[in-house]
Amino acid sequence: MKIILMGPPGAGKGTQAEVLTKELNIPHISTGDMFRKAIKEGTPLGVEAKRYIDSGKLVPDEVTVGIVKERLAEPDCQAGFLLDGFPRTVPQADALENTLNELRMKLDKVINIVVKREALLKRLTGRRVCKGCGATYHVVFKPSQKGDQCEQCGGELYQRSDDSEAVVANRLNVYEQQTAPLIEYYQAKGLLLNIEGSDSVEEVTRKILQALGRE
Ligand code: AP5
Ligand code: MG
Ligand code: ZN
Repeated sequence: MKIILMGPPGAGKGTQAEVLTKELNIPHISTGDMFRKAIKEGTPLGVEAKRYIDSGKLVPDEVTVGIVKERLAEPDCQAGFLLDGFPRTVPQADALENTLNELRMKLDKVINIVVKREALLKRLTGRRVCKGCGATYHVVFKPSQKGDQCEQCGGELYQRSDDSEAVVANRLNVYEQQTAPLIEYYQAKGLLLNIEGSDSVEEVTRKILQALGRE
């Protein structure tokens, strides 16, 4: 299954992707995670991406499209993939369509997770992420049973540099201006599935699987 998981910052894309990719047995392709890995490793890509990410702006399309194109050409994507946080602009969506045509692939569905702005602010400012394995927690909604350590690997939990209140507000504005137009874009192609995302994590997963005809 070849799917895009869309939604504003904090909608739960990463959280749902963790479960869905296991359930559907497909690779999870998150451009945000790829950039954060590059930043951690100090590569030229990381140095460039950090300038944009820390202020809540989008990394330029040429850079982002390039890394996704490379990733989709890898053999494990042949049978399917889940894109998380890409595309985020109309030019990215057009580039994705060209890339998929070149690879003779076709998108099955675009899942749009819908959550109100007030809830997004709470989710983002309370988020904690594991340094070791990248697992996502929340101080109120999904606290780790091991306090400030990861339940899965014991790694240290940290707050993303772009989860401060000031940067979060910027990211939400950037989303409205540059990414929200993709809702109509995929609606027009008949691929869009809107999923209400303010319920529990488990309930949202159930609704997505049901909408995909997997339950
Ligand atoms: P990216 O990492 O993609 O960030 P984002 O899109 O802003 O989304 P988040 O990862 O913040 O949220 P999420 O929807 O994954 O939510 P999560 O599951 O963690 O991108 C970061 C930056 O990289 C961008 O700003 C940009 O600079 C750059 N970038 C990335 N892709 C790019 C692209 N294509 N083009 C250009 N630039 C790009 O959940 C959030 C919190 O809520 C967690 O604490 C979680 O535990 C909690 N939670 C989740 N679900 C629920 C629930 N149902 N109930 C209660 N709490 C919940
Ligand atoms: Mg994410
Ligand atoms: Zn961990």
